[in-house]
Amino acid sequence: MVQGSSADTGVARRMASLLDADYVQVEHKLFPDGESYVRIPVDVRGADVVFVQTIDEPRDKRLIEAALITDALREAGARRIIGVIPYLAYTRQDRVFRRGEPVSIRAVLKMLYAAGLDALITVEPHKPEELEYFPGRHTYVSPMSLLARHTSRLVSNPLVLSPDLGGVRRAREFASKLGADFDYLEKHRDRVTGEVSMKPKTMRAEGRDVVIVDDIISTGGTMAKAAGMLRSQGARRIIAVCVHALLVGGALEKLLAAGVERIVSTNTLPTPEQVDTVDISPLLSPAVRSIVGTAR
Ligand code: R5P
Repeated sequence: MVQGSSADTGVARRMASLLDADYVQVEHKLFPDGESYVRIPVDVRGADVVFVQTIDEPRDKRLIEAALITDALREAGARRIIGVIPYLAYTRQDRVFRRGEPVSIRAVLKMLYAAGLDALITVEPHKPEELEYFPGRHTYVSPMSLLARHTSRLVSNPLVLSPDLGGVRRAREFASKLGADFDYLEKHRDRVTGEVSMKPKTMRAEGRDVVIVDDIISTGGTMAKAAGMLRSQGARRIIAVCVHALLVGGALEKLLAAGVERIVSTNTLPTPEQVDTVDISPLLSPAVRSIVGTAR
């Protein structure tokens, strides 16, 4: 049984169809004081239940709802509860950068486990190793081959770039799927002001189709800076590829103004129509099968 929630980009329905499972919509409303109410409207006793809840805006509320849905399923006697969380928030605070800060992703994953979640499936977390904070079964899928396949139609002889060292693994994977050249840019983010500055690496972007690959586009600052720099180096065309298009504030406009020609993303989050969107459901269904198909 696949349960969709208020935070779904269509992934739950498509997964139910791919898994040949029943689709059920979790009931959801807000109390007058703003607290969330959820209810599982069907009998789930003894069932393996997959619920899909991406951490869309308002993110803290979506996280609480994920915990509430888990608790409701546990209370109702579900056998195994598998949470598919396409965009898992708080992954970027995976360590203490300044004294006094939390390891936010650890707190989030412990909360979901404490609520009764047996297994967690997500898409391209900021760093895969941070999922180890979840004590239950956990896995993630990488959409690099899907994104590369889509992008291959837009470019010729491209140069693939990671905007920073931290993103090298995924951008390199993307480049290898595309059979393209690969390099990276150096980035520094001021932890207090959030200001991003970039030190250019030695590369020749002149005349090239450049594809910048990152996990997240949030404010668009990282991509816009990279795009501006590459434009001034004579790049022919710039395509911005990400997994999770948060696109907060005027990110989209910022990217277009910086010379980004196309933005390609997955549907882990709702995307505006200007973004080329690739469906991740076909990757998530086998991940569910591999968990449901194993003994508890
Ligand atoms: C940072 O480590 C991430 O990989 C992204 O580069 C970052 O979250 C992008 O944020 P923004 O779009 O606000 O520059």
